[in-house]
Amino acid sequence: MLHAGGVFVTILDAVTPTSDAIAVENQFVAHNYSPLPVVAASAEGAWITDVEGKRYLDCLAAYSAVNFGHRNPEIIATAHAQLDTVTLVSRAFHSDRLGPFCRALAELCGKEMVLPMNSGAEAVESGIKVARKWGTDVKGVPAGRGNIIVAHNNFHGRTTTIISFSDDETARRGFGPYTPGFRSVPFGDADAMAAAIDDDTVAVLIEPIQGEAGIIVPPDDYLPRVRALCSERNVLMIADEIQSGLARTGRTFACDHWGVVPDIYLLGKALGGGVVPVSAVVANQDILGVLHPGEHGSTFGGNPLAAAIGTTVVNILRRGEFQSRSAELGERLHARLRDLIGHGVEAVRGLGLWAGVDIDPSLGTGKQISMRLAARGVLVKDTHGSTLRFAPPLVITAEEIDWATSQFADVLAESGSHLSEI
Ligand SMILES: Cc1ncc(COP(=O)(O)O)c(C=O)c1O
Repeated sequence: MLHAGGVFVTILDAVTPTSDAIAVENQFVAHNYSPLPVVAASAEGAWITDVEGKRYLDCLAAYSAVNFGHRNPEIIATAHAQLDTVTLVSRAFHSDRLGPFCRALAELCGKEMVLPMNSGAEAVESGIKVARKWGTDVKGVPAGRGNIIVAHNNFHGRTTTIISFSDDETARRGFGPYTPGFRSVPFGDADAMAAAIDDDTVAVLIEPIQGEAGIIVPPDDYLPRVRALCSERNVLMIADEIQSGLARTGRTFACDHWGVVPDIYLLGKALGGGVVPVSAVVANQDILGVLHPGEHGSTFGGNPLAAAIGTTVVNILRRGEFQSRSAELGERLHARLRDLIGHGVEAVRGLGLWAGVDIDPSLGTGKQISMRLAARGVLVKDTHGSTLRFAPPLVITAEEIDWATSQFADVLAESGSHLSEI
């Protein structure tokens, strides 16, 4: 047996101080991000500790991938147990974890089948492929003619097809040629969507609440009207709940706020419990049944480790405690942030523990305000120019919310007084 005589153990050295860790990254890591100068060494619950031992309250939660807290004990226990049995066999064989995971997730979604993938972008790509295939095989759209309606300012990931229907020039420039077959209409405008749908439309793909665009909540009649339109015109409604889903907004899915059930859920981020990438396309058999062996796949999709962790995440969601926490504590977060309107904050949007905050641009860019907050031990992320996003792990406490928002108030006040001194 290969490992019988003992194993080599690779000791991973911590790189300190912060400046050295950042220098190594700058030299060896492609510069496709511009992170805050905080070097994480460990994390627990809602807190991250850097290589110098400084603690930060995480108000980003890895873009909602850490909804249940860093190293959630229930999820970590599952991961440890699974590491000791089997981690990866590929879909060439069955595993005892995959079926139960997909059954649990399908039930959570009120659907019949799951297509397991890894990253969010992969789930989106897979959803697009399924919709196109459904268009030709079921709806009868001539091959190669199916179109999909998307929304302006969408964010669905970074693959070549997905950026083809993005309006973010930074994400697109230089990456063409682009994939055809998409039409973009204003988010929140059901009339524009109705006008864009034609006989060849196979799907509508939207985020129920647009995350990267700045936590944009649509008008109350929007999602119900999109749902009705899709049913009337025999078009699949695909809800990208990769960031908005799995308790982030105070409900299991953001669509639940409007009593809407899409034909296809796209899930990711928190589905992996903050441990491994796990994503999924969830729909009924009449939709996912269009896929046959060899037509789509992924070596890692639905691997035993991912499936075990995903099953635990679904169990956690079934209990509903995080949905309730997000709804209750979200009210507090939003109230505290709204108190700052007129004191450096211009607008607050969102639902549950998910808030987009527009700051007075004269106080600094979102990035500058994020840097000042980080210096005070609060980690947030800017989205566009002067919008900040607060999306803490859902284990955050009321006291921690009060503390984070008071730090934010102080940063805004300081930024304002600094301005008046100039
Ligand atoms: C709504 C939405 N869809 C898809 C993605 C892409 O997910 P990933 O980064 O895991 O590919 C994101 C990532 O932020 C997202 O917010």
